[in-house]
Amino acid sequence: MSSVRTVLVSGSTAGIGFATAEAFARDGARVIVNGRDEERTADAAARIREATGHDAVEPVAADLATAEGAAAMVAAVPQVDVLVNNLGIFGAQPVFEIPDDEWRRFFEVNVLSGVRLARAYAPGMRERGWGRIVFVASESAVMPPTEMVHYGMTKTAQVAVSRGMAQELKGSGVTVNTVMPGSTLTPGVEDFLRERIGADVPLEEAERRFMAEERPTSLLGRLIRPHEVASIVRYVASDEASATTGGLLRVDGGLAPSILP
Ligand SMILES: NC(=O)c1ccc[n+]([C@@H]2O[C@H](COP(=O)([O-])OP(=O)(O)OC[C@H]3O[C@@H](n4cnc5c(N)ncnc54)[C@H](OP(=O)(O)O)[C@@H]3O)[C@@H](O)[C@H]2O)c1
Repeated sequence: MSSVRTVLVSGSTAGIGFATAEAFARDGARVIVNGRDEERTADAAARIREATGHDAVEPVAADLATAEGAAAMVAAVPQVDVLVNNLGIFGAQPVFEIPDDEWRRFFEVNVLSGVRLARAYAPGMRERGWGRIVFVASESAVMPPTEMVHYGMTKTAQVAVSRGMAQELKGSGVTVNTVMPGSTLTPGVEDFLRERIGADVPLEEAERRFMAEERPTSLLGRLIRPHEVASIVRYVASDEASATTGGLLRVDGGLAPSILP
């Protein structure tokens, strides 16, 4: 196993993915940053290089919600040691109003994107006797949100897929786990707060009201910061986490009111 590991973080031009890519860059890994747009992706990679002083941060623009995009990614980067399936979309819609195509779109983007990449990269990891696959799910995996049942469905599916892949890779040195963040302050969530609480309410006040009114079970009482999720991903992808596989790691600030994940 070479000492410099290649880490691919899907959907990493912003939010949790960006923070995760940055954390791996600080560790000295070769990091592949991904988004759909060439310029945005190159810009994110440049910002990480600048912030960390680490040069091996490479942008690969590809729409990983499609089979073509996944194939382009694998052609550009044929081998990775750590795959972080972070890419995910969310959006509120009443369950009985979600059309078939929207159910399919959520499944394609949130579940199949990770399945395709894992299918491409797991054989190489198994052959080399070391690898890490991490799915970024959500507390919605275990607490289906009434306002976005389709999103919750994809997050529960990620946990099942991750567990099944870990079983398939039994004894191989490759671990597969799911990380379960709670509500996290990303650009997407900032927009969501503006829509929900009001564009004229200062962000700090919007955060306080959102947590009190809409996330009352959080023991943290504030939104999680992307770097706090990145630390767990980084840990579970490390050598130190060699005995953790087929599992679910919570970084939800106690939001799920249960002693089981
Ligand atoms: N934020 C939260 O509160 C929260 C809570 C629990 C779980 N999560 C999960 O954490 C993950 C990241 O969420 P986030 O809030 O950090 O997301 P975000 O701020 O919306 O960022 C999404 C990232 O995905 C990229 N992206 C979107 N569609 C893409 C596609 N088809 N192909 C490649 N890249 C694509 C975007 O890049 P471009 O726009 O540049 O293409 C961007 O870099 C998701 O799986 C989400 O479900 C988030």
